Amino acid sequence: MTLGQGKIWYDGKFVDWNNATTHVLSHVIHYGSSVFESMRCYKTKKGSAIFRVADHVDRLFDSAKIYRMPLPFSPDELCQAILETVRVNKLEECYVRPFAFRGYGNMGVNPLSNPVHVAIAAWDWGKYLGDEALEKGASAKVSSWNKSAPNTIPSLAKAGGNYLNAQLAKMEAVQEGFDEAIVLDVFGYVCEGSAENIFIVRNGVIFTPPTSASILAGMTRHCVFVIAKDLSIRIEQHLLPREALYIADEIFFSGTAAEITPVTAVDKIPIGDGKRGPITTQIQKHFFGIVQGEIEDTHAWLTYI
Ligand SMILES: Cc1ncc(COP(=O)(O)O)c(C=O)c1O
Repeated sequence: MTLGQGKIWYDGKFVDWNNATTHVLSHVIHYGSSVFESMRCYKTKKGSAIFRVADHVDRLFDSAKIYRMPLPFSPDELCQAILETVRVNKLEECYVRPFAFRGYGNMGVNPLSNPVHVAIAAWDWGKYLGDEALEKGASAKVSSWNKSAPNTIPSLAKAGGNYLNAQLAKMEAVQEGFDEAIVLDVFGYVCEGSAENIFIVRNGVIFTPPTSASILAGMTRHCVFVIAKDLSIRIEQHLLPREALYIADEIFFSGTAAEITPVTAVDKIPIGDGKRGPITTQIQKHFFGIVQGEIEDTHAWLTYI
C-alpha cells in the first residue's frame, strides 16, 4: 500500500484514508503542536513484526509529557492499535506513524484547552536514503544550521516543531547535491543527521554524542549500543568536534527510516577509504539479521502482528 490508500486509526476508530482530516484552524497547523513516532514493520520468516513497538510508544508518551499533552489512550491501547493498523491494512512490511496533535479550539499560543487527537497511519516506505546508500554509503554536508540550544526546543521530545530546523538542514544539503545533513549543536559539537543519530569509528572504537548534546535518543541508536556490546565492539559517548568527522575511519547513521546507513563522504572529504567500513558492516548485518528474523531476537525487539 502506498500513501493515499487504506485505513487510518483516528481517535480510536478506523477511517478511510481520505477522511482522516482536521480543521485548518487546528492548533498544530499554526504552532507545530504535535508529537510523533516512526517505526518499521519487517517481514520475517515467522511473519510480520513491528520493531520495538512498546519502546516507541513509551517515547511518544515522554514527548507528550514534555509538552503537557495528555494522551487519551493508554500505552497498551496504542500498542494494540498500532498492530491492528498494520493488520487492517494487510501490510507485510511497512512504516508506521503514530502521532498526537492539538486540534481545533483556541487560536492563541496556549494549547492547554485544545483537544488532543491521536492517529496512526501505515504505508510502504522503502530505503530512506535511497536503495544504494545501505551498501555504497550516503554523502553528507555539515549544515550551516545549528541544532537548537539546550533549554530552547527540547530535543528529547520527538515533536513536529523540531523538524522545522531539520527541514532547513535537509533542504540545504539536498539542494547542494548531498544526501543528508549533519547538524552541529550551538557549541559546534556534532549532534546528528536531520533525522538520524550519528556514529564515528576510529581505531576500532565507536563514538557517538551523548543525549546531552541536543540529540534525539534514537531507538536505533540504543540498538547500536546493544549490538556493539553483543559483538564485543567498544562504544563510547563523547562530545565530538566537527573535525572528528573528517578523520574518522568510518561513519554511519542510525534511525528507523535510515536503519544503519554508512556515510562515505562528509563535505566531499572521503571517510576512510570512501567505502562502507568493516565495523559499520558488522553492525548493519547484525541489525538486519535481527529485524529480518535471521538472527535470534534475544532482546525481544520484535512484536509479531
Ligand atoms: C532528529 C532525529 N534524530 C534521530 C533519529 C533516529 O531515531 P530512531 O532510531 O528512534 O528512529 C530520528 C528519527 O526518528 C530523528 O528524527
